[in-house]
Amino acid sequence: MLNEALLAIGPVPIAAGILLLLVAAVYTHRFSSSKSATAGKLKLDPETLQIPQTISPKIPYIGHVLGFVEDGHSYFSSLCARTSLPVFTIRMAKVKLSIVKPELARHLPKVRHFSLSPLVQQLFGRPLALGEFSRSLLKEEDEMSRKFGPEVSRLFREEFIPNKNLRKYVEEIDGYVLREVGAMKSGQKIFLEDWIFKTLVGALGKSLWGGDNGPFSDPEFYNIIKNLDTFLMNMKRLNAPFNFMIDEKLLTARRFVRERLEAFSFEEYAEKCARGSTDAIKETFLGRVRELCITYGAATGGWTDYQLLLIAGLGPNVMAASTWMFHHLADPELLTQVRSELDEFVKQSEGSIDVANMSEACPLVLATWYEVLRTHGGFSLGRYVHEDTTLAGKYLLKKGSYTLAPLRPHHQDRQIWGAAADQFLPGRFLKEDGSLDELQRKLRVYGVFGTLCPGRYLAVHMAMALTVRLLLAFDMTPLNGSHKPPSENKDTIAGLATPALDVEVVMRRLENAPEGLEISFKSNRQEF
Ligand code: HEM
Repeated sequence: MLNEALLAIGPVPIAAGILLLLVAAVYTHRFSSSKSATAGKLKLDPETLQIPQTISPKIPYIGHVLGFVEDGHSYFSSLCARTSLPVFTIRMAKVKLSIVKPELARHLPKVRHFSLSPLVQQLFGRPLALGEFSRSLLKEEDEMSRKFGPEVSRLFREEFIPNKNLRKYVEEIDGYVLREVGAMKSGQKIFLEDWIFKTLVGALGKSLWGGDNGPFSDPEFYNIIKNLDTFLMNMKRLNAPFNFMIDEKLLTARRFVRERLEAFSFEEYAEKCARGSTDAIKETFLGRVRELCITYGAATGGWTDYQLLLIAGLGPNVMAASTWMFHHLADPELLTQVRSELDEFVKQSEGSIDVANMSEACPLVLATWYEVLRTHGGFSLGRYVHEDTTLAGKYLLKKGSYTLAPLRPHHQDRQIWGAAADQFLPGRFLKEDGSLDELQRKLRVYGVFGTLCPGRYLAVHMAMALTVRLLLAFDMTPLNGSHKPPSENKDTIAGLATPALDVEVVMRRLENAPEGLEISFKSNRQEF
C-alpha cells in the first residue's frame, strides 16, 4: 500500500509523497467515464507502443520529491519546460507519474481505465479520518462500488447545471452573503481570506446542507468554520502517519467538525423542514446524496465521510478565486473602472441586478475573474491508471501508475496568451471594443480529462454576487502598507493556489452604497 511504502522511506519523502498524491486527487471520486468501469482489457501491442520516457532528477531518488516540496505544482510545470517530450515519466519514491503536456491533452478524455476513487481513498482516508466502509467503497474493489462514483457525478450534474437550480442556489447564497456583509461594521478589521472562507463556504454549506435546519446553521458549527478552514488547508499535515506528529489544534478541529456532522440527524431535519414529508425531503440534494450513500451500504458514519469529502472538494476553489479577485481589485485604477461599471449596472437595473447579465454589463469584472483563474490556476489534475491503457494510440500508461496534467503550461502558453503570458492583465479577456471575448474557452481550470466541474456556473455567480456586494458597500484599506497581491502558497495541494499570507484590511462603509440592492439569476443563459 502507498501509505506503508511512504512510511518506510522517511519524513521528507513521506511529506512529498503525500503531497504528490493529493495533487493527483482532484475533487472527484469517479471514473472518467462510465464506460471505463466496465470495459474489458485493451489489446495492447507492445511493439507499437512507447512507455513515456523517464526523466531522472538531478539528485538521484529523492530529487523530484524535493523539487515538489520546494516548488509545489510549479515543479511539474518546470519539468515540462525542460523537455520537448510531449509526455514523460517521473518517479517520486515508489510512485510512477506520467506527466502530460498540453500538446497531448486533447487525447486525455479518450483514455480508458482512468480512475480517481482508489486514489482519493489513499489520500483523503487519513486526513479526513474516513471510516473503514468509506475506504472500501472508494477502493472500488467490486462491480457495485464502481457504480457509486458515476452515480454521484450524475447527481452533481443534475443538481448544479440546470438553470432553475442555479437560480435557487444563487439567490440563497446571496442571501447568506448579504447577511454577512450587512453585519460588517464600518471600521471593522478583517483578514480577507478568513472572512471570505467563512462567508462563502458557510453560504455554500448552508445552501447545500439543509439551510437553516442543517448542520451549517448550528451557531457553534458556524463559529468554528475557521477551524474547518485550518483543517482543510492542512490536509498534508493531517496525513502524517501518527497522530502524535500532528498539531493537536488540527486534530481538535477535525474531531469537532466530524462530531457535528455525525450528530446531525437526518430524521430530525426532515421533521423540522416546513413540508415535513419524508418524500419531499428525499427530493432535496441532501436527501438524494444520503439516499445514494445508503443504497451503496453506507452507515451514518459513511455518510458523514462523504459529506466531508464534498466539503473538502467544493469550497476551497471558489474561496481561493474570490480572495484573489479582491487582491487584484485593490489596484486603484482597476478598482475605479470596475466600480464605475458596477454603478452603471445597478443604475440601469434599477436596484435589482441579474448576475447572468454581468458578462455584457460588466465585462471588466468578468475579464478580471478569468484572469484570476488563468493566473492562479497553475495546479495539476490527475487520474489513477487501474489497467494498462494507451494515450494518443502511441504511449503505454501502466497499470498502477498515475497520470498528471499540470495546468500552468496551458495557462502560460505564449502561443495562446501572447508574450505577456506571465503577467496579470485584467483586460486580457476583453476585445478592442471592451466587450468580453471568447478566449476564456482556452482556460482549463474546470477539467482536462473530459469531465468538467459541475459547479462552474454556480462558482462564478457566487463570486460575482460577493464582488458586487462588497465593492459597492465597502472600501478596504490594508493595515500594513499597500495592498499588493501576495505570492502563492506552494503547499496548496489541490485546486487554485491560495495566497501565501492573509491580508488584514479595515472595512469602511461607503456613503453612497446602494440601499436594498437585489441580486438574482433570471436568465436562461449559461455562458461563463
Ligand atoms: C473557481 C471555482 C472552481 C474550480 C476552479 C473548480 C474546479 C474543479 C475541477 C478541476 C474539478 C475536477 C474535474 C475533473 O477532473 O473531472 C471539479 C470537480 C467538481 N466540482 Fe468544482 N470547481 C470550482 C467550484 C466548484 C463549486 C462552487 C462547486 C459546488 C457546487 C463545485 C463542485 C464540484 C463537484 C461536485 C465536482 C466533482 C464532479 C464529479 O465527481 O463528476 N466546484 N471542480
